[in-house]
Amino acid sequence: MMSPDSATPTDSRLSLVAALADFYVGHPDADRFPMLAKVGGHLTAALANGGLDFPESQKLPVARLVSGTRAEINLKSHIPEVETVLETFAAATPSLRWIQTPGYAATLPQHYLDNYGYVRIIGRGGLVESSVVSSGLGVWGAGLHYPQHEHPAEETYHVLHGSVHFQRAEGDWHLKTVGESVHHQPWERHAQKFGDKACVMLWAWTGDVGVDARLTGSQSQASVGK
Ligand SMILES: [Fe+2]
Repeated sequence: MMSPDSATPTDSRLSLVAALADFYVGHPDADRFPMLAKVGGHLTAALANGGLDFPESQKLPVARLVSGTRAEINLKSHIPEVETVLETFAAATPSLRWIQTPGYAATLPQHYLDNYGYVRIIGRGGLVESSVVSSGLGVWGAGLHYPQHEHPAEETYHVLHGSVHFQRAEGDWHLKTVGESVHHQPWERHAQKFGDKACVMLWAWTGDVGVDARLTGSQSQASVGK
């Protein structure tokens, strides 16, 4: 039997899936957003059935913010479920498949691309394959501005580290901090401005999860703040 210190990459990824399942199953926000119970149910079923894939790892520059000597994420949290997700995320980071929304590389500035990325835990190409739900962890460096975008999937975000202002369409900007959530209906346009610390958010999608988010409006590179 292995000691925890000799955990393999496979073990760390399994722990991350379990942490996400625990986060969503029974989360108080599921009363308002039933989609969270659906995502939790799919994760729980995959754990019970051994239905995990382990896609080949892929690095992105932003992963440096999560683990290693240049990490900027404080893994401690006043919310136990958040701390468990952050700790398992950091432990698994070197063995995860880091990706970016494909269409963004041609549009967003290099500074954004060097400080943004995500891992899909469940969904297309995730640790758990699914065509009906998608969920994972996104990281954005301090001060980034994620311009207006939209997607056909219903979405819930939970802030796990740092802070972020959210905007719906041309509405006011609302600050969200650790433990808070934001829900978007399908095709509801939204934008984010990240605070003075690296931000980690857990996202969940249901519905039409096979269609990537796309930037909207007349977003030019000049309009994307650094
Ligand atoms: Fe979104």
